[in-house]
Amino acid sequence: MPKLKKTKQPKLVVRDKGKKNMFWPSPEMKKRAWISDKGIYDAAADNPLAFWENRAREGISWFKEWNKVYEAKPPYFKWFVGATLNASYNCLDRHVEAGNGNDVALIWEPEPVDEEPRVFTYSMLLEQVSKFANVLKSLGVRKGDRVGIYLPMLPEVHIAMLACARIGAMHSVVFSAFSPESLKKRLIDAEAKVLIISDGYYRRGKKITLKERVDPILGETKVRNVVVVKRFKEAIELQQGRDLWWQDLIVNASPDCAPEQMDSESTLFILYTSGTTGKPKGILHDTGGYLTQAYWTSKLNFDLHPGELIWCTADIGWITGHTYTCYGPYSLGVKTLIYEGAPDFPKEDRFWEIVEKYRVTVFYTAPTAIRMFAKIGAKHLKKHDLSSIRILGTVGEPIDEAAWMWYFENVGNSNCPVIDTWWQTETGGTLINALPGIGPFIPTVAGKSFPGTKHILLDEEGKEVHGDSGGYLVQLPPFAPGMLRGVYKNPAKYLEEYWGHYGKEIYYTSDGARYENGFFRITGRVDDVMKVAGHRLSTAEVENAIENHAFVSECAVVPMEDSIKGHVPVAFVVLKKSEPSEHLEHELVQEVVKAIGPTAKPKEILFVDDLPKTRSGKIMRRLLRKMLAKKEVGDTTTLQNPESVEHLQKAVRDFLHSDH
Ligand code: WT7
Repeated sequence: MPKLKKTKQPKLVVRDKGKKNMFWPSPEMKKRAWISDKGIYDAAADNPLAFWENRAREGISWFKEWNKVYEAKPPYFKWFVGATLNASYNCLDRHVEAGNGNDVALIWEPEPVDEEPRVFTYSMLLEQVSKFANVLKSLGVRKGDRVGIYLPMLPEVHIAMLACARIGAMHSVVFSAFSPESLKKRLIDAEAKVLIISDGYYRRGKKITLKERVDPILGETKVRNVVVVKRFKEAIELQQGRDLWWQDLIVNASPDCAPEQMDSESTLFILYTSGTTGKPKGILHDTGGYLTQAYWTSKLNFDLHPGELIWCTADIGWITGHTYTCYGPYSLGVKTLIYEGAPDFPKEDRFWEIVEKYRVTVFYTAPTAIRMFAKIGAKHLKKHDLSSIRILGTVGEPIDEAAWMWYFENVGNSNCPVIDTWWQTETGGTLINALPGIGPFIPTVAGKSFPGTKHILLDEEGKEVHGDSGGYLVQLPPFAPGMLRGVYKNPAKYLEEYWGHYGKEIYYTSDGARYENGFFRITGRVDDVMKVAGHRLSTAEVENAIENHAFVSECAVVPMEDSIKGHVPVAFVVLKKSEPSEHLEHELVQEVVKAIGPTAKPKEILFVDDLPKTRSGKIMRRLLRKMLAKKEVGDTTTLQNPESVEHLQKAVRDFLHSDH
């Protein structure tokens, strides 16, 4: 193989003199960074409202300024009260108006290697978005309406989102790998009038079709029109009057569509996420606050400069995809890359080939992907010139030291800051991480609260925890501008999940954390939410799916540690009368795939006689978790049925034995 001529990579980090695995920004990094003075933290903490007010003024274009920067009636709060803006104007028009219309905005890489990528400049994107906004209007979509988007990673997904934003409709994007059943639930809850899908997409060389899988669920929804993006050549059946080709509609649409002047607090989008119950919550995000946080976290965390390219590998169905493939990069006017397919197709080096081909500046991915690449081995990276990368990011779950170091050394060539960003669907943008020009970068440690926000740790009683014993992570007012404003059509859920633990002025994150060297180390969820390959799933949702089967009496689902996916669901199932069998096991797994999607597939179904229960009849999932982790189960005398423990332990032991 010819030796690659790599571009000289500036040294962006230096090792701490005292601590082996602690890194700091180099003088070069500090020089290029937007922020390198740690005084920003104290200055912002002294007056967070002034801090955010200045950020909003500097980063975002408003039609009308606010008359009050922040207003709180706990647990409700508003930012930029009385101001108006448009998110699509901020993402597109203003860059074109500033003379940067010919700058590249979006690069789309298809999975098939023989197909051409699609590249959009800001002017091109503005034209497409305006046209599609007019299409939506012609289909009767008005300000405040909800539009369902069930699209894979195609340019049209961004175009559709920004078109909704342009006319003041709320988008509700549903992960295209979720099952049509879960799409149905979300469409019904949102009362979406219009749904946007594609005929399909490529995944690992296969054509995955979407349209015919969606057809059967539409009758139960309020969807009047389905706009179908044509990805394949094959003809498919369209229902006359209801289904329309995107490509046909766009041809005749006018490229002029004035952006609606939206109230800062008006909802930009709904994004459903799993909570502790079986029913997904429609998280509501506002326009002005969300965009301000998206803009500033993109700019400061990833130190993005004009002309640079961010590749955030998250699917658009997740908040990471919303904020860091779409709203963040576009509002900054930089380049964003989206890729249609699998990370290892056609070969294991596909991701690195893409990084080299487009000279990616910022690479942002999930620990599960990092662990997968580490397992495959670094030789695939060596074939490629990754020297364009300046900043690495990680998100979605706690990252272990080995994965962090592998990422740092192999992808970043021991030269780039690794920014471990803690946040949630609810927070809209990142909240806890190191800044590249300030540091330090420490494996497993996320860092500090973003300037102008404040997090602390509390114990069960609500007393602040200072030492390294750990506690519950909470956020204090003024709440970050990008925070959720509610749960769609479910105000009770909003009150209970976020403000029901420590009162109406303390946002409860459901995460545990502890201090390490004064920085936050996030230890993970303390509720019944699992992170499976970075995907957020509720144990109750998986249980509901399994309990759907006529033979199942009851069931408990708990996460078990997995070396690649972080956690995988394991189901303990009590049957009615029938006998356990492989066939039945397969049927139960299929119930989960049908109700939620393949991401939620249980790793194992353990048929058991009984589940451990408290005197009040609650299933003790904690006990099952401990068994799977081979930990001592502790005191079981408070159980209603302590005799169940021994038999459960045997079932778990047999499973673990056969598995490893
Ligand atoms: C949960 C939120 C927000 C983007 C993707 C996930 C976990 C997220 C980290 C991190 C440790 C993390 C938390 C959080 N999490 N980032 N850097 N370190 N844990 O969004 O699907 O809403 O999940 O992901 O447990 O509560 P999400």
